[in-house]
Amino acid sequence: MDGKKYGIIGGSGFNDLGEGAATIKATTRYGDPSGTLRNLVVGEHSVVFLARHGDDHTIAPHEINYRANMAALKDQGVHAIIALNTVGVISKLPAPGGLAIPRQLIDYTYGRKHTIHDNESGTLDHVDFTEPFSTALRHAMLECAATAGIEIHDGGVYAVTQGPRLETAAEIDRYEKDGAQYVGMTAMPEAIIARELGMDYLCICLIVNYGAGRGDRAIHDDIEISMQETRSKAIGLLDAFFDGKL
Ligand code: HPA
Repeated sequence: MDGKKYGIIGGSGFNDLGEGAATIKATTRYGDPSGTLRNLVVGEHSVVFLARHGDDHTIAPHEINYRANMAALKDQGVHAIIALNTVGVISKLPAPGGLAIPRQLIDYTYGRKHTIHDNESGTLDHVDFTEPFSTALRHAMLECAATAGIEIHDGGVYAVTQGPRLETAAEIDRYEKDGAQYVGMTAMPEAIIARELGMDYLCICLIVNYGAGRGDRAIHDDIEISMQETRSKAIGLLDAFFDGKL
């Protein structure tokens, strides 16, 4: 064990991760996290898993208590978070079924509790967010993928939308003009709250569909076809990263 604890936040398709593990029902100054925390030992590492949308996958992206989720992981001693986020892809490649580690994001969400620095906490800090994802963790994961022979796209901009509806075709055109390659609903405010709490944060995108107006199939058909493939690839990558079985 290196003594460092990792948090894994699973999005759609990962609810069963860590089933059978020792669970903790945590609460925080921000309220309750989405579900139970599951403590696992993977290889030599101590890992805490949390299902972002709840243990029964019932919490919509705009209703997730991101502050409680991040604070609960911090309270467990987590120093770095690996976030799994399903996304649509705006460009032709990488195609659905693939994985990506974006380098940047643009936040289009609104009305979410997006910071721990407010009147209630009585603190104010203008946190540097130039690089929203941990550079060291990005490089470590990319290197691990290369060594394990797992294909993963390096870089790109993740457009974070409010949801829970999917986008219009015109919105996807706009995000592309803004410079985005991926569109999803959950990386914000998760990434900034992790930063505010002093935890490293890495986003792994599971590409499950083409963005609205971009594919040949209905979006939900794309998702159904690609979900299992991306899930197995992501689990393969995590197994390689932790050198153990998740
Ligand atoms: N848009 C927003 N969020 C998503 C998508 C999408 O196309 N696919 C998976 N999550």
